Amino acid sequence: MLAEHKLKILQDLVRSSTKEELVWINGFLAGVLMNCHDQSSLTSVAAPAAAATPAAAPAVAPANDKPAVSKITIAYGTETGNSKKLATDLASKAKKSGIQAKVVSLDQYRLNDLAKEEYFFTIISTQGEGEPPATAKKFFDHIHQNGFKLPQMKYGVLALGDTSYPLFCKAGEDVDQQLQKLGGQRIVNLIKCDTDYQGDAESWFSQVLHSLTTTTSSNGTASVGAVVTKKPAGKKVYTGNILTNINLNDRGSNKQTHHIEIAADELEYHPGDSIGIIPENASAVVDSIIALTRIDGKKTVSFRNESHTVIELLKKKLNIAYLPERVVKQYAAIVKQDIPETKISLLDLLKIYPVNNAAQFEEVLGILEPITPRLYSISSSPQAHDGEVHITVARDNFKMNGEVKHGLCSNYLADLSVDTALEFYVHKNNQFRLPAPEKDVIMIGPGTGIAPFRSFLAERDASAATGRNWLFFGDQHFTTDFLYQTEIQNWVQTGVLTKVNVAFSRDQASKIYVQHKMLENSAAFYEWLQDGAYIYICGAKDPMSTDVEYAILQIIERFGNKTSAQAIEYLDSLKEEGRFLKDVY
Ligand SMILES: Cc1cc2nc3c(=O)[nH]c(=O)nc-3n(C[C@H](O)[C@H](O)[C@H](O)COP(=O)(O)O)c2cc1C
Repeated sequence: MLAEHKLKILQDLVRSSTKEELVWINGFLAGVLMNCHDQSSLTSVAAPAAAATPAAAPAVAPANDKPAVSKITIAYGTETGNSKKLATDLASKAKKSGIQAKVVSLDQYRLNDLAKEEYFFTIISTQGEGEPPATAKKFFDHIHQNGFKLPQMKYGVLALGDTSYPLFCKAGEDVDQQLQKLGGQRIVNLIKCDTDYQGDAESWFSQVLHSLTTTTSSNGTASVGAVVTKKPAGKKVYTGNILTNINLNDRGSNKQTHHIEIAADELEYHPGDSIGIIPENASAVVDSIIALTRIDGKKTVSFRNESHTVIELLKKKLNIAYLPERVVKQYAAIVKQDIPETKISLLDLLKIYPVNNAAQFEEVLGILEPITPRLYSISSSPQAHDGEVHITVARDNFKMNGEVKHGLCSNYLADLSVDTALEFYVHKNNQFRLPAPEKDVIMIGPGTGIAPFRSFLAERDASAATGRNWLFFGDQHFTTDFLYQTEIQNWVQTGVLTKVNVAFSRDQASKIYVQHKMLENSAAFYEWLQDGAYIYICGAKDPMSTDVEYAILQIIERFGNKTSAQAIEYLDSLKEEGRFLKDVY
């Protein structure tokens, strides 16, 4: 296909390139190809400026060429901030190429404007079970209602996700397909990114910018079928060993919060990261399923191109705890029964609507979905706890049809004994990082929300960071629920913690929460903000993080002598500066 001299140039280039440069080249070529269908030679598409660093290459525009498009919209749908960060990155790259980019969160987007959009790029993650983030729901539902057309829209979608989930990047895929159904013209192929999304995102940016800088007229762009880039799972999976597993709550508590220490080789993580764990199903449940269906547990069957024994599949691979409605529907078709579409466990389903025989159950195995990973904020610090990763896990108890049930993963982790092996991967959270060592931080983390702040404090202690640290912690009772009390008191004594405020909600007649402690300390809180402090919130999204955010607005209003609109503006500017960070769930 290639003349020998050209092949040699290519091989030399590949050999001398880093992984990031190869990703960039890949994106560059895809962009070139997409826009050059009719050209016999691609010489008119010049190489990017030689000085540009590959990962930050601003565009693949022909040198000296003016962009063919002057205005675009970049809309993002995010839960934890990754898509927003990428939307901003793309906008600044577009700007450097002379293209004005409007960046907007999908929850702020005026849906009536959609029909007017000419160049519309969406960066969206997938959450829940293949769903769009809450902030994108309104937009998502809107585009799924038929009855309108987007004939002038040229678009591209970047999908963020995690290959460990069965419905990888589903929300992005849906948006991509739906915009096409509405008459939009796809000018950049969908790219589906795993959790290490940076390289793929850069490649997509290059394609977007290339498509904009080489478009000759509004209808001269190439529309190609969505060739979806599906990467194999590229995560580094660690096999750790449990060193410690203790319940931090004392006898008499309503809660069980486990501090789990895991040793592993060649660990790489930062304070703020989480680990992803795929829980195992309980042996008793697996045994009951095998007994009920009379399948041979040792039989080897194939599931998604891998061979496993039935026992292994049921124990380690398949979600049997709460089957989603789409799986229940397929089950109903196999057993040929009318089954209401509801979430139900496989065992209950088998008891109420039994399979005819083992062969039919094998068919059922084929429709089940993999167990999804659960993320836990890391509570250790790489500097302070070398070769270890710690997590803080609340055992999740809830009632279903009058019966007390436990969350699959928290229950599995809480029961792990010392010296057992545990597989996990590191889930990076670049949106939740410590600032420079001399900056002050205010950390608000009730309950298990304390986890990343134990990591932050241990890291700041070990690295002798000079910035001040202020912690707000809360739980139900002082005597039974003060998680990491001794360590926190030590940090106060050694001066690592400049200030600590605790709120124990049920130790008095009226409930006291962290936001009340913040309001009691309003003057100092506002002073810290004025001095450039960073605010971090971790823990329950609702109502905790909403109430905490409201308290911060009240503090700014009162002590900054501002109207409520000005207080909102002040907080927005903190968000923009990256000084207001949340990791809530
Ligand atoms: C609770 C939860 C559920 C998730 N569900 C999915 C999923 O079904 N499919 C998928 O591809 N990714 C899933 N993810 C992974 C996210 O899409 C991924 O972490 C992404 O980088 C988040 O981007 P964002 O910060 O813009 O929301 C899930 C993440 C969480 C925390």
